[in-house]
Amino acid sequence: MTSGKTMAVFPGSFDPITNGHLDIIARGLSVFDEVTIAILLNPEKQPLFTVDERVQIIGEAYEGESRIKVDTFSGLLVDYAEKIGATVIVRGLRAISDFEYEFQMALMNRHLNPRIETVFMMPAESYSYLSSRLVKEVFQLGGAVHELVPPVVERRLREKYPGPPPEGESRRRRT
Ligand code: PNS
Repeated sequence: MTSGKTMAVFPGSFDPITNGHLDIIARGLSVFDEVTIAILLNPEKQPLFTVDERVQIIGEAYEGESRIKVDTFSGLLVDYAEKIGATVIVRGLRAISDFEYEFQMALMNRHLNPRIETVFMMPAESYSYLSSRLVKEVFQLGGAVHELVPPVVERRLREKYPGPPPEGESRRRRT
């Protein structure tokens, strides 16, 4: 018997989670009953934050939010989605440049399991340039990221890079 709830999975690397991800998750919650944030266990990538750290960070960002779950997965995303009872994969589309890769993935996932639908959501325009990779780069080079990530991520970035930011003049320089 099913619960009658529509469960969605929001998969990704989340290294680290950004305000763009949070925006998509909020949109997902406005449509679906439950969203599982699923972190890919990818031994080929050299992440900044370990999987455990990413689980903790996201858990802290969503403390007390019963409709959000945080989990990790390996193998095929559609198999994981089916295992947890999710019928929807949510992905964010920031710009046309995202489209080709996302379209390919969505159609491959549909080929693998036609019972699982991919839904694309667009973040606020102000996040259309935002990515985890750029957040890490900007922070390491002394730029301010407080408008780009939740406070827990900024704190964890400071723990990873404790020293003062590199010298330089910038309007949005980290203090
Ligand atoms: O945040 P990312 O790195 O863009 O997320 C990519 C992710 C995790 C969604 C994608 O790599 C994925 O689904 N990997 C699982 C492996 C899989 O199912 N591959 C076949 C379908 S394309």
